[in-house]
Amino acid sequence: MAAAKTPVDVVVLAAGLGTRMKSALPKVMHPLAGRPMVAHLLATVAGLAPQRVVVVVGPGMEAVARAVAPLPTAVQADRRGTGDAVKVALPALADFAAGTVLVLYGDTPLISAGTMQRVLDSRAAGHAIVVLGFRPAEPGGYGRLVLGRDGGLDRIVEAKDAGPKLFASGLCNSGVMAFDAATLPGLLARLDTNNAKGEFYLTDTVAHARADGRSCAVVEGGEEELLGINSRAELAVAEAVVQRELRARAMAGGATLLDPATVWLSHDTTMGRDVIIGPSVVFAPGVTVADNVEIRAFSHLEGAKIASGAIIGPFARLRPGAEIGANAHIGNFVEIKASTIGAGAKANHLAYVGDATVGAGANLGAGTITCNYDGWNKHRTVIGDGAFIGSHVALVAPVTVGNGAIVGAGSVVTQDVPEDALYVERAEARTQIGWAAARRASRAAKRKAG
Ligand code: UD1
Ligand code: CA
Repeated sequence: MAAAKTPVDVVVLAAGLGTRMKSALPKVMHPLAGRPMVAHLLATVAGLAPQRVVVVVGPGMEAVARAVAPLPTAVQADRRGTGDAVKVALPALADFAAGTVLVLYGDTPLISAGTMQRVLDSRAAGHAIVVLGFRPAEPGGYGRLVLGRDGGLDRIVEAKDAGPKLFASGLCNSGVMAFDAATLPGLLARLDTNNAKGEFYLTDTVAHARADGRSCAVVEGGEEELLGINSRAELAVAEAVVQRELRARAMAGGATLLDPATVWLSHDTTMGRDVIIGPSVVFAPGVTVADNVEIRAFSHLEGAKIASGAIIGPFARLRPGAEIGANAHIGNFVEIKASTIGAGAKANHLAYVGDATVGAGANLGAGTITCNYDGWNKHRTVIGDGAFIGSHVALVAPVTVGNGAIVGAGSVVTQDVPEDALYVERAEARTQIGWAAARRASRAAKRKAG
């Protein structure tokens, strides 16, 4: 495939309010696989190595500007339509007289790099405008593409402006359009608002280019990658598409997903080979899993790094900053936050380990709790190599348990424990032989006496 040799600038339109999302968050900030949908789109765009990318946002959309930084944004003061939005981006492309301007919509984030490239290749053949069309099962509100007798594109008619015959047409505008950069400013200058929405439609540029005798073309893409997200329901459909791709990628890389449909991944989840993932495991952003790791059912992981051979779960929770060493075991109802767990260490049941360093081969009994927060500040707990922490132990940080030390069950540890020492803190226990039997006998005697 001959790649387009002309330079490419990309304009991403994201100024719309997304009212149908019913959200305080701008539409393009709603996440797909753990990152804003606009970031998902921009990651694909980066693969095209464009010369410039500009994102058009609305007034007050600083969150979007931060999410796309260091890419520049242009602010569209009044949302007067997609044609106006592209006009707002032009100054950022000012010294750009030749090549292609590729316009993408921030709410259509699933489009693949390969499809974008097909549009650019068609543009490189000399068309003034190339539009990415598709045939959705329900054409509904999409703009309709009107072809000429030569098979070229004559005009685009918005659904609200289409008569019943055109409305019935299945060939729709995905929103992706590639323009000859030299003619784009002139075409935008001719747009007007004489239409059903009273907006400057970017799509009207096609009819103007045709009136000038320039050719316009359609490239067709698949429905799934061209899904426009306007509502929460459509967001859920898009998330399902992305998850399916991420699961396929993990399996292709050598991971077994016992029940793929129930495993939720993030865009940046990385997994080695011979990893086994049980059912209903959630990977929030920032998780790295090395080779030969097993993650058992119903575990939730975020910002965690797991070294080879470790076993996590079932029902484990790894929070940001959890680093699990090789062959370590983290069992059911164990929560780890901002802590390093040494190689071969074990915390198999019911524990909270926060702001701690746990040495290699250490063993944390059921109910081990690091008391890391005093109501104002967080403090660290250090547990040495090969140390043994008995069941139901509270470690009041800051505190250190030396290498090889043993802490007896039920202890509250408020002092550092030296290497190889035994620390036990426990109220005195009493056992009275026969006491229970004697009490039962005296009760029975009283009952008999009435
Ligand atoms: C648009 C197309 C339609 C196409 C559909 C595909 C036009 C006139 N219509 O319709 O042909 O089938 O997308 O999904 O282009 N935006 C701005 N500023 C504005 C208006 C919109 O930045 O003033 C942005 C929005 O944030 C959005 C994109 O442009 O990302 C599309 O706008 P939207 O209002 O959703 O257009 P549609 O009605 O879906
Ligand atoms: Ca839309």
